[in-house]
Amino acid sequence: MSLLEMRGISKSFNGVQVLKDVSLTVEKGEVHALLGENGAGKSTLMNILTGIYTRDSGTVLFDGQELKDTTVRDSEKAGIAFVHQELNLFNDLTVYENIFLGKEYVNRLGKVDKRRMIREAEELFAQLGVNVDPYVKVQELSTSQKQLLEISKALFFEAKLLILDEPTTALNNSEIEHLFGIIRSLKEKGTSFIFISHKMPEIFALSDSYTVFRNGEYIGSGRLSETNTDEIISMMVGRTYTSAEIYTPRKTGEPALKLEHYSGPGFHDISMEVPRGAVIGLTGLQGSGASALLQCMFGILEATGGSLTVNGTPVKKGDIHAAMKAGMALLPSNRKENSVIPDMSIWENLSLASQNLGTGSFHVNRKAEEAKYENYKEILNIRAASSQDLITSLSGGNQQKVFIARWLNTGAEILLFDNPTQGIDVGAKTEIYRLMEKLAGQGKTILFTSMEVPEIRKVADLCHVFYNGSIIGTLSNDQIDETSVMRYSTNSIGAQQPGRGGEL
Ligand SMILES: Nc1ncnc2c1ncn2[C@@H]1O[C@H](COP(=O)(O)OP(=O)(O)OP(=O)(O)O)[C@@H](O)[C@H]1O
Ligand SMILES: [Mg+2]
Repeated sequence: MSLLEMRGISKSFNGVQVLKDVSLTVEKGEVHALLGENGAGKSTLMNILTGIYTRDSGTVLFDGQELKDTTVRDSEKAGIAFVHQELNLFNDLTVYENIFLGKEYVNRLGKVDKRRMIREAEELFAQLGVNVDPYVKVQELSTSQKQLLEISKALFFEAKLLILDEPTTALNNSEIEHLFGIIRSLKEKGTSFIFISHKMPEIFALSDSYTVFRNGEYIGSGRLSETNTDEIISMMVGRTYTSAEIYTPRKTGEPALKLEHYSGPGFHDISMEVPRGAVIGLTGLQGSGASALLQCMFGILEATGGSLTVNGTPVKKGDIHAAMKAGMALLPSNRKENSVIPDMSIWENLSLASQNLGTGSFHVNRKAEEAKYENYKEILNIRAASSQDLITSLSGGNQQKVFIARWLNTGAEILLFDNPTQGIDVGAKTEIYRLMEKLAGQGKTILFTSMEVPEIRKVADLCHVFYNGSIIGTLSNDQIDETSVMRYSTNSIGAQQPGRGGEL
């Protein structure tokens, strides 16, 4: 008997059907990848399974029992734990309070047993190899620590089925490997997993079987060992897909951007000159300095030394408005924390940055803004019913596209994209790289960070690899490959195999 059988599930939001008679079967002790483009309905199905949304029709059998009118509590009691796509923590509570929220231990006197909760939180972290202090407030944690806390929280209650909705977006490679180790050992003990991700290599590395949805419909399922990446992507996008390289060398112009001995929190002594129309990739392990550099250039963090000039004019440090006036735009990483304005509609979220730049008029021309949105919707293939819907009604990947549009809409000449394809599906990633190429062709200058080497190779003229706050290596497009990037980003250039030395 399968652990989970969801049959004939349908769901509409405001008359728009987003799940059409879909099925999902998960066996005991397997990692089951749930795959599909942005907006395909993956998170919605998981929200139905865990009682966050109610289904319009269909049946759910879990561990031999029918789940009807499920509440969040019911699904937890049945043994289902859910790590959401976006972080779901309370910033002003401590780490241990977040773990035990609503499930606090009480001692014989009826008081909250703080000591026991802290002890068990410490034991959990030690067991999982997670370096987090149970006493600190969540707001003090780094994004990767927050993501690890979310996962630990779910693991604590020893569920039979663990749902991981894009759990690795803020983790570095060694944290991901560590997490996968934990998943594999729990799987050995019989725990099942539903794993949602847009990163093909990790899907194949971790999962046993898969189910593909497209546009709210069930497309197919099977064993991953019996298929390959191109076949899976073709099922996702509904046409034959080949993962062809799209890089073509491009002409660049005069220097548009210059950094001289530029230093700030998390990086130091960075010098580079970027010509107009270039696309520059920045990579390295989490915390290596690439993301901090972009934040400093845009004035979110304050540079501590050196200079940044745009078109020959120095840009004032630590001043976002000055950076915007100089023609820069920054798409920050970690969408939920840095980009989403939850109470605003899609078009309001989009037009926010250009309004902030100030057009001299206090009046927002809603018609014009909505027309711009329609344009970006087409270019970026944003899947949304109406521009007046709340931003939070969009799937994660579609929200990310709105934020890319937000910054393109400022007309900036220099685009700083911090992990732009976070949560973006495979097909749309290609669209975004094409768009970056097109923008570069129009004379925009682009700096972007990514930890996915094949993506960088598709679009970047040059890739700077960061280690410990400095640029440790620079690769031209034809030199960009996983091995070279990994050697630089772990600073293990001297540790090559005998006989293979000198190839860098
Ligand atoms: N609360 C809601 N209100 C209205 N529409 C919604 C709501 N939640 C989801 N939708 C719509 O349902 C569709 C499926 O969204 P869902 O979040 O399930 O996609 P997904 O497969 O998880 O995509 P992604 O990979 O981008 O996270 C989308 O078109 C989305 O806009
Ligand atoms: Mg989703």
